[in-house]
Amino acid sequence: MQWKRTHTCGALRQSDSGSEAVLMGWVSKRRDHGGIIFIDLRDRYGVTQILFDPSAEVSVYEQAKDLRGEYVIAVKGLVRRRPEEMRNPKMITGDIELVVNGLEILNAAQTPPFEIDDSIETTEELRLRYRYLDLRRPAMQKSMLLRHKLYQTVRSYFTDKDFVEVETPVLMRSTPEGARDYLVPSRIHRGKFYALPQSPQTYKQLLMIAGYDRYFQIVKCFRDEDLRADRQPEFTQIDVEMSFVDQEDVFLVVEGLMRTVMREILGREVETPFARLTWDEAMERYGSDKPDLRYDLPLFELSSVVAGAGFRVFSDTIKEGGAVKGICVPSGAQWSRKQIDQITEQARDLGAKGLVAIKVGEGDWSSGPVKMVGEDMRKAVISASGAQPGDLLLIVADQRSVTNEVLGGLRQKVAEKEGLIDSEKFAFCWITEFPLLEYDEEDGRYYAIHHPFTSPRLEDIPLLDSEPGKARARAYDLVLNGYEIAGGSIRIHTREMQDKMFALLDISEEEAQNKFGFLLSAFEYGAPPHGGIAFGFDRLVMLLAGKKSIRDVIAFPKTNSALSLMDGAPDFVDPEQLEELGIKIIGQ
Ligand code: AMO
Ligand code: AMP
Repeated sequence: MQWKRTHTCGALRQSDSGSEAVLMGWVSKRRDHGGIIFIDLRDRYGVTQILFDPSAEVSVYEQAKDLRGEYVIAVKGLVRRRPEEMRNPKMITGDIELVVNGLEILNAAQTPPFEIDDSIETTEELRLRYRYLDLRRPAMQKSMLLRHKLYQTVRSYFTDKDFVEVETPVLMRSTPEGARDYLVPSRIHRGKFYALPQSPQTYKQLLMIAGYDRYFQIVKCFRDEDLRADRQPEFTQIDVEMSFVDQEDVFLVVEGLMRTVMREILGREVETPFARLTWDEAMERYGSDKPDLRYDLPLFELSSVVAGAGFRVFSDTIKEGGAVKGICVPSGAQWSRKQIDQITEQARDLGAKGLVAIKVGEGDWSSGPVKMVGEDMRKAVISASGAQPGDLLLIVADQRSVTNEVLGGLRQKVAEKEGLIDSEKFAFCWITEFPLLEYDEEDGRYYAIHHPFTSPRLEDIPLLDSEPGKARARAYDLVLNGYEIAGGSIRIHTREMQDKMFALLDISEEEAQNKFGFLLSAFEYGAPPHGGIAFGFDRLVMLLAGKKSIRDVIAFPKTNSALSLMDGAPDFVDPEQLEELGIKIIGQ
């Protein structure tokens, strides 16, 4: 480089006109006008219009003819105020331009596979394959800068509140948190494996036992699970743990964090305390443990109303202990046959056996099965649903959990379809009192809903001996706009209770000792009561940036099949590497 950069491409203003400047960056747009070449020069900070005028510097102008998109150049020139009619108020540098009198091509570039522009329409596959070009787009850079700002805001918030950031190992023993572990073979200890952390759960608890009192960490976690738009095999958590606390203390810290984040990142005030729903309330009213509360659209209960209906689908379901519930689509009576078929199909995809759709009119109900429902029942259904003439009722009969889940899914689809979602809104909500355990019919055993270190509610401890499935946990999730953005719990902190929990989870004493001996022993050396939470950092960034996929806020994400399209990971390795590890691949 012949010159030193004096300004970035977002720096020059009207007050700089008349001075010399050296800019470096990428050739963005090029226009040739009346013998003058105009180029938008781009870097992370912005875009500056530069121009090559043959009447000023003919040799430089000749050189500029070779410039193509994405060439990296250095230009020296004079900052000039743009003529009034050429000013561009949309650009931060729109009052000026640089009249170039020296050009150095720092590097040529091939024509990129897609334009480096925010309005591009290209496949995600191509974007991921050429991620370094995709990341060059201003919208991506904006998201990455937002992410950067969030790291700083989070660190300063927790530091101000006396939390200490401690790094925990990436090569560890596995913790059972529900997903499959990523394993790392040990060369030195042949046949043995490390696991990558699904979360630093056990370490943060050990830090409480070690007396650190308040811990946080922005940390990578790894889970080998089915992926979707809000799940990656490696993702980032804001991990938090606190001693001598109950749920309310954790909520206060988290609500304070969210207020600070919303203010610093988006300049918005949010009201606290956040709404709270117990898990039961959330499932019954919204059919989801992560309801989107930007709109209401609640489920209504018809079980007692239709128990005696002549329509067998309903009455039989109730007899078998199931539930008949519905949602009401405001003004949905205008839906066409095709739209109703579509939503019925969606209900089936969500697990329903069928769907009854009723248009609420002034007169008769026209649809088939409802003809069998008498006048009284019709009135009772309308009253239970709160429907107005012109609305559409969508009704499902099934086991209670299936009914809720299907309607929870339909609720979301209807809200999207009917434009009921205010995209400007941020609706936070705590979900509390999760069940502690979940029975798996196939395996014939209980699994922890959150993780095995979660404390049962104290009043539910007696249930552990009689009806463990009914016990509720001191666990909570924070939900934002229909996404679970954080989850945590108050932990077990005595050896006896932890032993009991492992026994309930069908983990033998020997296995518990083998896998968690270190934690169980630690509980015998003065473990304070403690609890915490972890945020899905990527999900939080995604929502703050207004994106629909966490892939859009992760610099180098993986595809839904856990591939890195850019560097081709995972891939085969040399046979020598495998041999050194004592690994033989079978059945490729
Ligand atoms: P949990 O498993 O609920 O709790 O995870 C905490 C939060 O992490 C986010 N998350 C993910 N984000 C992206 N991709 C994934 N695959 C993924 N999996 C989870 C979610 C979730 O709310 N150790 C406990 C926390 C605790 O008890 O303190 C834990 O990891 O937003
Ligand atoms: P069928 O008796 O199966 O012909 O169903 C009659 C009507 O009831 C159809 O509109 C079905 O979609 C609907 N239906 C069937 N099963 C259910 C169910 N479990 N919940 C709600 N509607 C159902």
